[in-house]
Amino acid sequence: MKTNYIKKKFIFKSICFIIMLCLLIIIEKKIKYSNFITALHQTDDSERGDVLHYDTATKQDASQFSVSLSGFYFENPTDTKQIGRTVNMTDSNANIFYSVNYPETGINYIDEVLRNDAQGELSKFCSDASGYIAENDSMRTGLTIDYCAYLTGDSLLSVVFNIIYDSPEYTNPLQTVRTHTFLLCSGKEIDISSILSGDYLKYLSDSVTGYLASHPELSKTMDDSAYSENYKPKESSFKNFAFSSSGLTLYYDPYTIAPGEFGIISIPISPSDILPFIIYDPFKESDIPYTPPAETLPPIIQSGIDPSKPMVALTFDDGPRAESTNRILDVLESYNCHATFFVVGTNLSKYPDTVKRAAEMNCDIGNHSFGHAKLSTLNKKGIKSQFSKTNDILKKMIGKKAKFVRTPYGQTGNILKHVNYPVILWNVDTLDWKTLNAKKVIKAATKDIEDGDIILMHDIYNSTAEAVETIVPKLISQGFQIVSISELFKYRNVTPKKHKVYFNLEP
Ligand code: NI
Repeated sequence: MKTNYIKKKFIFKSICFIIMLCLLIIIEKKIKYSNFITALHQTDDSERGDVLHYDTATKQDASQFSVSLSGFYFENPTDTKQIGRTVNMTDSNANIFYSVNYPETGINYIDEVLRNDAQGELSKFCSDASGYIAENDSMRTGLTIDYCAYLTGDSLLSVVFNIIYDSPEYTNPLQTVRTHTFLLCSGKEIDISSILSGDYLKYLSDSVTGYLASHPELSKTMDDSAYSENYKPKESSFKNFAFSSSGLTLYYDPYTIAPGEFGIISIPISPSDILPFIIYDPFKESDIPYTPPAETLPPIIQSGIDPSKPMVALTFDDGPRAESTNRILDVLESYNCHATFFVVGTNLSKYPDTVKRAAEMNCDIGNHSFGHAKLSTLNKKGIKSQFSKTNDILKKMIGKKAKFVRTPYGQTGNILKHVNYPVILWNVDTLDWKTLNAKKVIKAATKDIEDGDIILMHDIYNSTAEAVETIVPKLISQGFQIVSISELFKYRNVTPKKHKVYFNLEP
């Protein structure tokens, strides 16, 4: 009966907590969304000719538009591929060849748009190609799609697709440019009217005219009204555009504003020139700089542990969670070191692959109870079952039970007599759950660290995963070896004892 009551109480508390969390998320989204909508409406007004002109002095607060970039992939960023990782689809046979590249950013709504565009183009190409081949089986036709991805501050992402068709329909390969720009705070793909205001259409049109006029070859073709029609001050003239830290670039397909022999024409407009027309300043430095790719990090890879040298244990609670836990595992893997994950039983069935991966990498899997229960509210049986339930799952999932326990909320005292395991707490608390700020977590986990410290983090937060990408190389460069809890005991020559609490293991 008592356990039933506690169960009910726990479920009730959990539901309350989830409702609160949802409310908070909704409120936050609402705030950001309403800012975005306000911005949109103000742009609309200016288009209707009202006296609403933004100059630098009355701009929107840029922070309204910025987001945390910790959810994004930054794999091998280059000048032209600043965000995401490349998805490549290639095939080549007697009649058909294609190479399609598009970025995967890690953000679902963006990835869906980009994937649909690239794959849509590919399936259209494939069905056209099968038509040609049916008519003439010696026909050869190809498609190439490549892209550039630009990040502006922490608010705009632009992707420029460069599409080349090589088909029997055309004497020369047909080249097309298509762009997508996302305002990250709203989660929406935007057109140019969404963030420019005032007399920007005339300004953009004049910029194109100026660019062409200053070009020795292009200037000769400017009289042709078929071309000039395509850069008149109307919105459809500027549908292909990208923002980057070097400003705004307008793109035009061959034959649209100049003869086809000039290919795709891109017209750059500097940040200072376009800034007066943007409703906020996106060119500011990003608050959360992205972590450089693995190869630019110091190439120190941990090999064997030297017991005479300093060591530190990174411990992660409350997981697993596929996205963030895997990101942490990626870092540990690339530096060949081990950490400890104190898992919650209820999360195990959700992410079995993640916990298996951690175990296979020789990370320690510790037991953080089944339901993150407050053990002081439970009786002996309740406490024991919190750990036995999780261990039963672990036994099935990874073939072994956890050797160590971390009590939820780091509880100690009377409950310990019912905990038949060594209890591993911590002496360095990063407060990552509170700040959700990678920079602060990095500071907490790398400043004044001493030999044998046990550092507490939570692998369920992207901000923590982001921080770990810096923490690991930084600690290694400070001379620490990064070890799991069992390695820490082993190399400190300490046998862990049941019911005993360990905060750190000094040499
Ligand atoms: Ni916890």
